[in-house]
Amino acid sequence: MSQVIVVASGKGGTGKTTVSTSLALALVRKQNKVLVIDCDSGMRGTDMMLGITDRLVYDLSDVVSGTCDLDDALYECTGASGLFTLAAPVSAEDEISPQVMKQFITNHKNDYDYVIVDAPAGVGSGFEGAAIAADRALIVVNTEPTSIRGGVNIREKLTQMGITDVRLVINRFDKERFIATRLYDDLDQVIDTVGVRLIGLVPEDVRISALAQRGLLATNWASSSVVFDSIAQRLTGDNIPLTIKL
Ligand SMILES: Nc1ncnc2c1ncn2[C@@H]1O[C@H](COP(=O)(O)OP(=O)(O)OP(=O)(O)O)[C@@H](O)[C@H]1O
Ligand SMILES: [Mg+2]
Repeated sequence: MSQVIVVASGKGGTGKTTVSTSLALALVRKQNKVLVIDCDSGMRGTDMMLGITDRLVYDLSDVVSGTCDLDDALYECTGASGLFTLAAPVSAEDEISPQVMKQFITNHKNDYDYVIVDAPAGVGSGFEGAAIAADRALIVVNTEPTSIRGGVNIREKLTQMGITDVRLVINRFDKERFIATRLYDDLDQVIDTVGVRLIGLVPEDVRISALAQRGLLATNWASSSVVFDSIAQRLTGDNIPLTIKL
């Protein structure tokens, strides 16, 4: 059965789009058919990370307004057959309302094993539209209090929306920095503060950033990206232990 997973964070720049696209690729590597919906109207990024920007003509707003058929706006990722993306509107003014998003995702989710929805930062209407049809949510945080507080806000909002299957991704983890800044005693304190069970710890890694920002994630799945294979395995029910050593 199809699953809709929203990837969200309270604070901007935690790595939602990097996690959304990398996780989608990891799920495709496990033979799933995956759709990534970019809901960050005006600030879209999944098309760049998945290397389809040069081909991109139509986006989500064109589909819901009837300017084009859904098939015209679905772009299959080069190097990752079975991975489709639907770009966010170019302009923030064209943000799709939560009710329309709900209808749209409900109508089409069964064509995929997974639908990954990349949310805009914060808990505004864009987030609501991204989360409204979600079965599960991933909250992405970095190990800083402002990011963690944003994670708490998202968790509370998801609870209000009735989304209870929520897991935490700690992204851009830098052990030396974490210890040196002394913002938290340990990672358990981070996890307990957000109040959400951990599903993955992604290291600060310039290779992840370089591949994602060049649109090369799909064609150059690197050893640095393997951490997303483990998250995908945990999402699909495999019991992969999380070993955190500080
Ligand atoms: N694990 C990582 N290691 C190193 N750099 C990372 C990692 N994850 C993300 N980045 C970098 O952090 C920046 C923000 O990432 P990204 O665009 O995925 O965040 P975002 O949460 O989607 O941002 P926004 O809120 O603007 O949508 C980018 O420069 C990206 O390359
Ligand atoms: Mg983003």
